[in-house]
Amino acid sequence: MSLLPILRFPDPRLKIPASPIARIDEGIHRLARDMAETMYEAPGIGLAATQVNIHKRLIVVDVSETRDHLLVLINPEQVESDGCQLCEEGCLSVPGIYDKIERAGRIVVHYLDLDGRARRLEADGMLAVCVQHEMEHLEGKLFVDHLSPLKQKRIRAKLLKQARITA
Ligand code: NI
Repeated sequence: MSLLPILRFPDPRLKIPASPIARIDEGIHRLARDMAETMYEAPGIGLAATQVNIHKRLIVVDVSETRDHLLVLINPEQVESDGCQLCEEGCLSVPGIYDKIERAGRIVVHYLDLDGRARRLEADGMLAVCVQHEMEHLEGKLFVDHLSPLKQKRIRAKLLKQARITA
């Protein structure tokens, strides 16, 4: 297993839409393992392949306190959503920035697991927020895209400054 470097906003590669995964081979299994390790190490509660510069439709999520409820979602598709919730979000690609974003309160997602089986996930609360956030990454979208242009400009300036300091 290995830790993967995480792209940081405003890296333009975060905007590349991900392609569906046609075949779940050993490479996809390895990617899922490496992404899970990277997410736990960060630490974070979710990671999309886009964030590690792999433009395939795969996300890993674990919102449990005990960090032992890993979900790997391949080709996830949201088939139902209702209600709304306002939750403070952060992102491993936008370190140190948190803001409240409105999301659906409950969602149903269809996806494939690592064995290629069709699965259904019904989620609410933090899991629903996290899955929506990660699925957006696959479309090339970040949570900061929901914020006002002024806030986005400030965040961009702050992260570019940080990148210069740590470079
Ligand atoms: Ni994120």
